Amino acid sequence: MKSFSLPILVVSPLLIAVNARPNIRATLDIQDGQTGKLMVFPPQQTDTGTKRMLIIRSLHLGPTTCADHAVPAMNTLANHGYISRNGITNFAEIIRGTGEAFNIDPVMASGMAAQNLLTRGNPFVDKISIGGVSPFVPPLPGKIDGPETQGLAKHGRVEGDGSMTRSDVHIGDNRDFNQTLWDMDLEQLAMFGDDGPDGPGTVFNLQTLIELKRHNYESDQILDPEFAIPIRRLNGAYAAPALILRRVLVFANGTTKQATKRIISSFFMNQTFPENWFRAAAPVLPGSPIAAEIAAGLPQWFPGHNDENGVFVADPQPPAPFNISSGCANYWDTLVNAVPGSLAHVTGIFKQNVDLLNGILFNASGCSEPLAPAGPTNV
Ligand code: HEM
Repeated sequence: MKSFSLPILVVSPLLIAVNARPNIRATLDIQDGQTGKLMVFPPQQTDTGTKRMLIIRSLHLGPTTCADHAVPAMNTLANHGYISRNGITNFAEIIRGTGEAFNIDPVMASGMAAQNLLTRGNPFVDKISIGGVSPFVPPLPGKIDGPETQGLAKHGRVEGDGSMTRSDVHIGDNRDFNQTLWDMDLEQLAMFGDDGPDGPGTVFNLQTLIELKRHNYESDQILDPEFAIPIRRLNGAYAAPALILRRVLVFANGTTKQATKRIISSFFMNQTFPENWFRAAAPVLPGSPIAAEIAAGLPQWFPGHNDENGVFVADPQPPAPFNISSGCANYWDTLVNAVPGSLAHVTGIFKQNVDLLNGILFNASGCSEPLAPAGPTNV
């Protein structure tokens, strides 16, 4: 069981607020043979209307597309060249790519980028693999988080149990699309979905997502002896399917506003834009209520894990003042259990980037106090 007694280092809110802004004080910073790259926000998109996403761009064309099949949206971006086709991306590229392809607002995109870069990237050189370990993403300077930088597919910090289309790591392949799991998801769609152009029970709605997650959790809790859904995982596991739905309009078609079986299958199975698919007509902002609505439909699932007898038990509550909301608890869990504690002691550009990313997470959290990274290293 995880211990929550790690010392919590509180850093100055002022420091974080200052560093959360783009910073142009770039000086040459070499640490352990690596050259630091200061993270900055890309220029704001000027064209924020709907667009038919059809042309396969060759903007960042690498030798081959070799993105691992770890996460559907990032693979789609790599396959279409909205991020580097070799699956190695960075802070500005994630914001620009998700903005161009899915019309995601920079505030929302930077939050997703921050959580993943802090937990599974190299924030000194500003690189992250959307799959597994890559020779293009070096270990952190001084190997302060182990001998390799892992990438998005590595289990435990963000990637977790109870996914819709990937197996739990302890009982199967947590990286590749799993047709059996998807077929079970589609059974829920057939039972609870709305009728649409592909036939009866083919349009995703809230009830489908609730039933689908219920089914994911119920089967994984029984099959996976080490099943665990800590706060950050539970939030992520509801936020991801919420991106499918009509009211959020990330995977749903921007013109019909429907998330049909054909559209969502294209993202999950082929990791490409569906035919004749349009992105959202207006920028997608954070704060959609859908994740909370899914959570409300599943009150029997709370942050917890299987004990040694396979019984699902609750995790300890976050300490005050981090227990005021699920957003604040999520920030606490991420900083204390998922962002390596060694990042609290870095210097130069490394520190500026870590402070920028932590500031983004803190500003989105609703917490009154920021935290310094305090999670385990080399896991
Ligand atoms: C562009 C908008 C995005 C959409 C629509 C999206 C959608 C999704 C969906 C639906 C899943 C769940 C897969 C499943 O349960 O089988 C997922 C998982 C994941 N996504 Fe995204 N995502 C987006 C952006 C991002 C970004 C920017 C990152 C990181 C830089 C990211 C990292 C992840 C990770 C690490 C997982 C695995 C979590 C897990 O299921 O264990 N996503 N995403």
